[in-house]
Amino acid sequence: MTIDIAIVPVAGHGTRLLPATKSQPKEMLSVGRKPVVQYVVEELGLSGIRRILFITSRGKTSIEQHFDIDEQLTSYLRETGREEQLMDLEFERQAMEYFYTRQRRQLGLGHAVLCARSLVGNQPFVVALGDSIIGLHAQSDIVARMIERFDATNADVVVAFERVPRAEVVHYGIAKPRCGGAAVFELEDVIEKPAVDEAPSDLAVAARYVFSPAIFDALEKTLPGKGGEIQLTDAIRLLLKQGHKGLGVTLTDEERRFDIGNFDSYFRTFVEFALSDVQYGPALRQFVRELLEREER
Ligand code: G1P
Repeated sequence: MTIDIAIVPVAGHGTRLLPATKSQPKEMLSVGRKPVVQYVVEELGLSGIRRILFITSRGKTSIEQHFDIDEQLTSYLRETGREEQLMDLEFERQAMEYFYTRQRRQLGLGHAVLCARSLVGNQPFVVALGDSIIGLHAQSDIVARMIERFDATNADVVVAFERVPRAEVVHYGIAKPRCGGAAVFELEDVIEKPAVDEAPSDLAVAARYVFSPAIFDALEKTLPGKGGEIQLTDAIRLLLKQGHKGLGVTLTDEERRFDIGNFDSYFRTFVEFALSDVQYGPALRQFVRELLEREER
């Protein structure tokens, strides 16, 4: 069975990015030329996803506008002789269908995924967090690799993981692998944001998941956890405890996760993407070099 639907939760307030996110969604912040969420959608497209269900909230309508086809803008560019700029709107024509529903109360990531239940029904699906890009310029087929594992086994959960420095485990869901932490491993348990000395590994949940519909029953039974929120990690944990099979797939070294959730990682991501921009990267690199040299003097 091949999976072509992804849930993309974009309902969070983005409070760690205020004031930038006061009146615009963090998923619409620009990284180089494109808003974060466009990279997420393009990455999912590379992995064969053709339907996207955004879980939105108040103040997120610009995401809907972004993926709409803007005929007026297209005509304007044509009429004013700027055909070459039409390339920048190519993503509007991507073979993708978009659906939107609101998480009407902010009860956590697990609750956001549960909001998709009656639309997704009884089919397996992907979850891709809207504030994380996988791979430089989203050149990653991690989701396709996860779907391939999901199809080839009888797993109900496949989760992407990345290695993080030990001190940072407190920010992530952390895997307890059944043995080792190879490219693909069996999951024994997963713990949301553990203390450093309680973390079973340094493998952190990396914003991409594949689920069978069994996750919805687990989410229905999941009580508020870390931060008083219904955590997706806790529902995965429950499935594993019930004897369902879970797999972890680790990101490759070339396939880092770029997190836009806080200024430190947002700034780093922007700089790296801008420096590797084909057109503007080389001049920017020179500019930054001169800037740093001036500072050192
Ligand atoms: C969420 C998940 C966490 C995961 C992280 C990055 O946390 O709850 O398990 O490791 O995304 O994918 P958040 O960053 O929303 O606090």
